[in-house]
Amino acid sequence: MVAMTIAKLQKKKQQGEKIASLTAYDASFAKLMVEQGVDCILVGDSLGNVVQGRSSTVPVTMTDMVYHTECVRRGAPEAFIMSDLPFMSYGTLTDTLKNAAQLMQAGANMVKLEGGDWLVDSVKALTQRGIPVCAHLGLLPQSVNVLGGYRVQGKQEAQAVQLIEQARQLEAAGAQLLVLECIPNSLGKRVTEALTIPTIGIGAGPDTDGQILVMHDMLGMNSEYLPKFAKNFLEEGDGIAGAFRQFSEQVKSGDFPELKHSYEG
Ligand code: KIV
Ligand code: NA
Repeated sequence: MVAMTIAKLQKKKQQGEKIASLTAYDASFAKLMVEQGVDCILVGDSLGNVVQGRSSTVPVTMTDMVYHTECVRRGAPEAFIMSDLPFMSYGTLTDTLKNAAQLMQAGANMVKLEGGDWLVDSVKALTQRGIPVCAHLGLLPQSVNVLGGYRVQGKQEAQAVQLIEQARQLEAAGAQLLVLECIPNSLGKRVTEALTIPTIGIGAGPDTDGQILVMHDMLGMNSEYLPKFAKNFLEEGDGIAGAFRQFSEQVKSGDFPELKHSYEG
């Protein structure tokens, strides 16, 4: 199996090939995802919700992130793995460098952090010291207590323009990937066109360079609730491996997401 790299993800954008990405938190699922053509795995702090049963990602610790990153790496030695820096682990530059280094030493290829222009210095410092960074704009789950809930972001033109400007600044600072969460279709497209680095969307419409879903959502594990942007791939996939295969194929063919999975505007 050929190892995925940031250079190969970048090339996919240039060639117009979509990037299929899923979250994983343990060795077994991570292994299966890679075998079924998933390009990139995120050890998301969404583990707070789906693994630990919490109501937000705020309680997730560095110890949790290191543990799950190590688990995922053992199951998928050749995978491209991103790990989330959890809530307040990148509040100061010193903490940022120390905590990001821990995730890299646990097996991550890249770290992800949530936020805009206030992270420019952090992104620069990390990249200069050999730690690749994925930025994350739009809905920022670690800021749910400031936002007052999980809502679509960037609906007003002024917010949209601000988001594009922040994306540009993060790219200029050295970010090599950008996750866009819960923003209108049109904004997902505008950001993607404004950047040379790949964008990976979750609820950001069909025009981002890649798609990511939380594994538990795409397996339909919450019987009461399926987010608008998600789809139950287990139903079509005939088993878990098949669900990962369907996701990977449908992202790459452009069949997922459909407009009904995205936010208008
Ligand atoms: O933690 C997570 O799963 C994420 C994705 C929603 C992008 O950050
Ligand atoms: Na996250």
